[in-house]
Amino acid sequence: TDDSKTVDTRLGEICELLRSKVPYYDWVGFYFRNGDKEELKLGPYAGAPTDHTIIPFGKGICGQVAVSNQNFVVPDVAAQDNYIACSITVKAEIVVPLFVNGENVGQIDIDSNTPDPFSEEDERFLEFINKKVAEIL
Ligand code: SME
Repeated sequence: TDDSKTVDTRLGEICELLRSKVPYYDWVGFYFRNGDKEELKLGPYAGAPTDHTIIPFGKGICGQVAVSNQNFVVPDVAAQDNYIACSITVKAEIVVPLFVNGENVGQIDIDSNTPDPFSEEDERFLEFINKKVAEIL
């Protein structure tokens, strides 16, 4: 490994890789708890820029995962009432929390323009990615 790479560079590369290799991953990003505030802050991502760089705990799919500590798979974003739209092209979303020493410190968030694309395989895969990410934070 190249120690000169920063954590954000590595996370950005992971986002780009996932987005380019998985056809139905259209936006891939990490959100992290913002210091000791009850909010998430956008970290490295790949895909279209989003206005939602700060998300309060409890708000949207991301904010709900910050408090539930559970994966959230959304097959159809139009059916969710607590949802923050980043792009009108998005049809589905998956958010998987990222734990460091058992503490929920953030999450990986993936948007898809394909309806209902996510399976348990995505959940297991993204849990694996997050375990690896936890080791470099
Ligand atoms: N849709 C998310 C907001 C983040 S964007 O998808 C990048 C939500 O409802 O929390």
